[in-house]
Amino acid sequence: MSSEGASGRPLRVFLTGASSGLGRALAHHYAATGAQLGLLARREDALRALCDELPGEHLKLVADVSSVEQMQQAATAFIERFGVPDVVIANAGVSVGTLTEEADDFAAFETVVRTNLFGLVTAFHPFIAAMRERGSGRLVGIASVAGIRGLPGAGAYSASKAAAIAYLESLRVELHGTGVRVVTIAPGYVATPMTAINPYPMPFILSANSAAHRIARLIEQGRSYAVVPWQMGVVAKLLRLLPNGVFDRLFAKAGRKPRGLLPTARTEAPASKNGLEGPKPESGGVSMAIEDVVVERRRRQRFVAKRKGEFCFWALIEGERFPLQDLSIEGFGVQVFPGFELDKVFPFVLRRAGVPDEVRGRARAVNKVDVGVGALGGLLFESFEADGRARLEEWLTAHVLASATVPISEKDATAIVSGPSLI
Ligand SMILES: NC(=O)c1ccc[n+]([C@@H]2O[C@H](COP(=O)([O-])OP(=O)(O)OC[C@H]3O[C@@H](n4cnc5c(N)ncnc54)[C@H](OP(=O)(O)O)[C@@H]3O)[C@@H](O)[C@H]2O)c1
Repeated sequence: MSSEGASGRPLRVFLTGASSGLGRALAHHYAATGAQLGLLARREDALRALCDELPGEHLKLVADVSSVEQMQQAATAFIERFGVPDVVIANAGVSVGTLTEEADDFAAFETVVRTNLFGLVTAFHPFIAAMRERGSGRLVGIASVAGIRGLPGAGAYSASKAAAIAYLESLRVELHGTGVRVVTIAPGYVATPMTAINPYPMPFILSANSAAHRIARLIEQGRSYAVVPWQMGVVAKLLRLLPNGVFDRLFAKAGRKPRGLLPTARTEAPASKNGLEGPKPESGGVSMAIEDVVVERRRRQRFVAKRKGEFCFWALIEGERFPLQDLSIEGFGVQVFPGFELDKVFPFVLRRAGVPDEVRGRARAVNKVDVGVGALGGLLFESFEADGRARLEEWLTAHVLASATVPISEKDATAIVSGPSLI
């Protein structure tokens, strides 16, 4: 099933949450195998960019998984274009810190549960009858290790993923013997925009590409349940066995996800392009387009620019000092600042906590990601002054050594810094 559906035709994959992170990496994986993809998310611009990168012709589906109507329309569009899918991957999800005592977090609780749990139902529902009739298909739900035990400060997310795991099990048994398999995937940490702001260590973190390859293999095998990577599976099993008293003591002071950073809904009608797109949707409707061809943006490993939960790198740009969200030998991410403009080149000065020197150069603004209460901007280095690049490599190597959750050598750290991208 890796590259072909029935009778040697291309595999048909309907994928939600395709515009970013793991979904985007899954899209790349399946497109490279020649699959026909339905790529669904709310951000039309991000889907368009993805379609421009992918080989082959795919269906861009701008829809919100929390809307039954939009998901039904998206499914209908997929079936009309390609036929009944072989694989449906319900990957769309949101994660944000929540506290029950904060009334401000009610909306976040609702959005997280609606997206992460109900979003599975809306993705699968339109296809089940047809798959049952055909006697084959894979319904894949992306849950999380966070659903194994309730994590502090992540009540909504943990609950939504625990519910997702139970829901997927119910569905699996309901479809037993029909030829339709239900696959539950519980990833540990994956380097995506979702985890880029996590102010805590993330053991066994995988690149999105590596996670996507592993997940695709598990889907192909039709596994009923799997944790990715396997090391996290061991952790998950241990977590399950921990008595409450021990678990509570261990996790009471664990780092917490920041509250209030939920991306906003962004379902928009696409601008018409080359006459390939479907009609503009009515309000709340689904839009479609057939797109094509390649290109990768990030090439180098990037790192959360925090140490023990505190910012530890800053950029001085146009006289203002901004904490970095992430940093790599290729570029950095910051909260979008006044004057930020895509494609504009900014002179910068980078500083690192605890060291007196600085790195100077110029960087180009290349992307902007909305995170609800503002936006994060990505800048790629264009040039460095003097030995800036070598200095930055030293800083990053020291940062990796200091942040590693397992002992690693300086050689390993240097290799990680100059290694391939996680995203
Ligand atoms: N990263 C990790 O460490 C990790 C670990 C365990 C599980 N997971 C799970 O893996 C899945 C993918 O996460 P990720 O890390 O790749 O996060 P991400 O980079 O933030 O991507 C999330 C995706 O979901 C889409 N999405 C969110 N809400 C949506 C909605 N209402 N309707 C349609 N699409 C929606 C987003 O697209 P738009 O914003 O364009 O709609 C985006 O494409 C999630 O289910 C997440 O919980 C991630």
